[in-house]
Amino acid sequence: MKEVRTVARRSGLLAATFGVTTLAAVSLAVACGDALEVDDEEDVGLVGEAYGKHPEHRHDDDCYGKHPEHRHDDDSVVRALEKKIREGRHTFRYETFGDEAFWGGKLGLHKAIAGEANGGIGPGIGPATALALGLKVDVEALPQSLQKQLRRGRVDLEDPATTLALLKLNAVVGVTGFFDGSGTLESIGIQCALCHSVVDDSFAPGIGRRLDGWPNRDLNVGAIVAAAPDLSPFTDLLGLPDDAVRNVLNGWGPGKFDAFLHLDGKATRPDGGPAAVLIPPLFNLQGVGLMTWNGFSGMSAWVPLVINLEMWGQGVFSDRRLADETQFPIAAANGFSRVRHDPDRVTPKLAALLTYVESLEAPPPPRGFYDKVAAKRGEALFTGKARCSNCHVPPLYSLPGHASVPAQAIGIDSFQADRSPNRGYRPPPLRGMLTRVKGGFFHDGRFATLEDVVDHFDQHFTLELTRRERADLIEFLKSL
Ligand code: HEC
Ligand code: HEC
Repeated sequence: MKEVRTVARRSGLLAATFGVTTLAAVSLAVACGDALEVDDEEDVGLVGEAYGKHPEHRHDDDCYGKHPEHRHDDDSVVRALEKKIREGRHTFRYETFGDEAFWGGKLGLHKAIAGEANGGIGPGIGPATALALGLKVDVEALPQSLQKQLRRGRVDLEDPATTLALLKLNAVVGVTGFFDGSGTLESIGIQCALCHSVVDDSFAPGIGRRLDGWPNRDLNVGAIVAAAPDLSPFTDLLGLPDDAVRNVLNGWGPGKFDAFLHLDGKATRPDGGPAAVLIPPLFNLQGVGLMTWNGFSGMSAWVPLVINLEMWGQGVFSDRRLADETQFPIAAANGFSRVRHDPDRVTPKLAALLTYVESLEAPPPPRGFYDKVAAKRGEALFTGKARCSNCHVPPLYSLPGHASVPAQAIGIDSFQADRSPNRGYRPPPLRGMLTRVKGGFFHDGRFATLEDVVDHFDQHFTLELTRRERADLIEFLKSL
């Protein structure tokens, strides 16, 4: 079937080159019929594995551009986009942008993973510990023989050598090991998928097929970084002793990270709590003007910042606002407003990566996750009496444009808002509620449940919602 389609596609290409011919039109009809039935992974898994499995998300828009009313050069646009998304997905999952020079080269994290017995230092990190730290294993990277051994309990999950074997298979989501000729772990690098992917646990808890865009709310980034033998890059930047830096990192907890710590030096909130924020889902961001909880910048400015300044990739990046000594004393003192690496390992990857991230959409809520009838009533409240849509504008459920809202508008403190030059909180696009549940709601997870969020808004805006109205609103949120 695939062959037929390839041929048909080629004729499509010919048709595009030589004008529409009858022969091409016939081949195109074959191609379209084929695409509607096709279930081959390459085509349906385009935007994240679980995602592609729902019938409504199948890419039968293969037909787009093949109908007579579409011009044939549109077809090449679709194909180019498909290629770009595939490239971007590869970057999202596997590209380290040279950041191993930092995670391995400077922090020596690989040594802590390998342990003394394998040429590193200390006890090492076995798979059981790695899974407990929230790291995920991609079952599709494991050979059948290993899967069998795992099922039979014949794999030592305490032994760091097993972690090294998984790294060699490229099976640890978001982490790449670099090995020398003799098989010793030499360095380690990280990817977007470390924080922004989970697995579906289909094999075992923490082991399954990749789900890109889901926030990894199990991942204890701080504890992982604090396992590194050498934290001098952070002690130098922050001007804090080693144990103080380790305390800060260990204080973050699962699902959280502080992207601003080494820019503004604020390790704790005014109330003494950790300043880290929850890893957000990356769904339905196309059209959302500002990224991050505090609306730091748009997507195409934020992603290069992340790669160059958070992952410590080797690229080119500029943001003059980071030269502001008052708001970003550490960034200003260290020239983070202008990063230059030669060769630039980031910029050539950026367009495809952004295209992929913008293509990610929230998984539809599973059957039984919410009450449909109540959700319908909740929707009317959301856009009516409860006035939620003032800030969560459907269908984005965020504010379109360069927009965030002042802290007092939503009745919370302004600490995290003030860490952004825009000094506000961006209404999060509420899609994929299922993926946002763990770790709580709002930037720091201060509200444990949706009930708490709705109660907060009910009081803050004096909405005087009845008990049933609050419940309906929650069913609607769960439907997003
Ligand atoms: C170490 C964990 C980590 C890694 C690695 C990481 N991110 Fe993030 N990402 C976060 C956190 C945490 C936030 C929220 C930051 C904030 O709001 O202060 C975030 C925010 C974002 C946002 C904004 C989402 C929104 O709704 O506001 C985008 C887009 C994003 N990341 C993309 C990426 C891409 C692309 C990569 C790889 C190049 C990447 N991230 C790597 C942790 C990470
Ligand atoms: C004035 C603008 C505004 C209004 C009105 C508003 N929100 Fe929000 N909402 C926000 C902002 C901003 C945040 C993020 C707060 C943060 O970053 O801590 C948020 C967060 C949320 C969250 C948490 C999302 C997450 O993943 O943590 C939910 C759920 C939510 N709002 C639902 C509602 C509902 C329901 C209503 C109506 C009762 C409503 N909002 C009204 C601005 C608003």
